[in-house]
Amino acid sequence: MAKVQKNFVCANCGAVTTKWSGRCDGCGEWNTISEEKPLSASGPSKKTLGGMRGKEIPLSSLSAKEAPPPRTASGMDEFDRVLGGGLVPASAILVGGDPGIGKSTLLLQAAAKFAGAGLKVIYISGEEASAQVRMRAQRLGLAEASVQLGAETNLRDILTTLEAEQPDLVIIDSIQTMWADNVESAPGSVSQVRAAAHELVTFAKTRGVSVVLVGHVTKEGQLAGPRVVEHMVDTVLYFEGERGHQFRLLRAVKNRFGPAHEIGVFEMTGDGLSEVTNPSALFLSERDEPVPGSVVFAGIEGTRPVLVEFQALVAPSPHAQARRTVVGWDGSRLAMILAVLESRCGIPFAGLDVYLNVAGGMKVSEPAADLAVAAALLSAREDAALPKDCVVFGELSLSGGLRPVGQTENRLKEAKKLGFSSAIAPSHSKAGEKSGMALRQMSDLIGFVGEIFGAG
Ligand code: TYD
Ligand code: MG
Repeated sequence: MAKVQKNFVCANCGAVTTKWSGRCDGCGEWNTISEEKPLSASGPSKKTLGGMRGKEIPLSSLSAKEAPPPRTASGMDEFDRVLGGGLVPASAILVGGDPGIGKSTLLLQAAAKFAGAGLKVIYISGEEASAQVRMRAQRLGLAEASVQLGAETNLRDILTTLEAEQPDLVIIDSIQTMWADNVESAPGSVSQVRAAAHELVTFAKTRGVSVVLVGHVTKEGQLAGPRVVEHMVDTVLYFEGERGHQFRLLRAVKNRFGPAHEIGVFEMTGDGLSEVTNPSALFLSERDEPVPGSVVFAGIEGTRPVLVEFQALVAPSPHAQARRTVVGWDGSRLAMILAVLESRCGIPFAGLDVYLNVAGGMKVSEPAADLAVAAALLSAREDAALPKDCVVFGELSLSGGLRPVGQTENRLKEAKKLGFSSAIAPSHSKAGEKSGMALRQMSDLIGFVGEIFGAG
């Protein structure tokens, strides 16, 4: 008899190894590796699949007409937008986020909205007792919503209930607390999370029920448990925000039924999350006078323009090794821009501490922010403020050239709406006809430095 191959799985990153060790080679975490039992006790069947007769599956051509999926809008616009225009029947959605960020609050509010839109909604809480969820609902003013509540972690009982109730939408809060009794490991372990997600997603697909799975994230900001859960579901949303700040972002990182990278903006208030329809106003700090080191970037998040403010501080360093501290932006991208400023424009930052911050706790990942960052750094270093009514955007190449970025027209429109009147952008930006903004186009960083801060 062939020797059964043992599998060991890291509970943090999901890496599979053939032998146990104290530290995972994949993610470097200690004490996260445990043995994983195969799903079926009998092991793989000896017969190869090719030897057995199956039945032929029907094939169709690509040209077959497919109507767009019918969607149910909750009426919570920020939530619907992130889903791609509403909830698609039989879809599986994963919502990840730090503990305490407001996932349960968001989903309870969404559940009530969907129930109001005519869906039969069941909310299963594995973390809180029904009474706790009811108390939250009362606080949110949702006590009258026709959402059915269950507090359970046993997956078998949950599936039996769902089978009997035939809901349109099920919310599972959270997938880490679910426990399948046919899998021999503790709730929250990789095999349990994977098995529970698999069962629930299969149930969603075969019964035409939409499921929303709530997932915790690790301290590195990734969904705890195996990444395979992300592959199993149709849509992955992250609910994020800074602890000290009121606002929360719901961000689509994967969506089979709509655009990815779409964001919805909410504000956490005393009675639940309220929608923020004009996020740009939220991320700009109130100021009357232009401040050195502060530059407004006209960005795009998903399909929606958002203005954010970059703040830089450059000061002589008391340390042998100067500090580079970034909040809300990519640290290695900052290093790249400092290098371009130094070698292409001859502006050294050696011996200077550099701090870069995105105001309001927003995180920016667009390369189009390069020019705004360079402008903020220069403005801080030279102690010279940019004009108050000016927004900046453009990608920087290593040669010091500026590259045009997409959606110039939308960026300009948003800036105009918020009272800005001029913009600095790369040459050849497709600005459209009537933006109402004075657009200054520049082809490289040296030109930009010369024009805005005076050569030298
Ligand atoms: P919760 O939805 O329980 O977070 P999660 O499910 O992601 O762990 O939200 C908890 C936090 O939200 C808690 O710190 C209190 C705050 N909160 C409010 O500020 N206002 C409210 O109306 C509610 C319900 C919660
Ligand atoms: Mg919760």
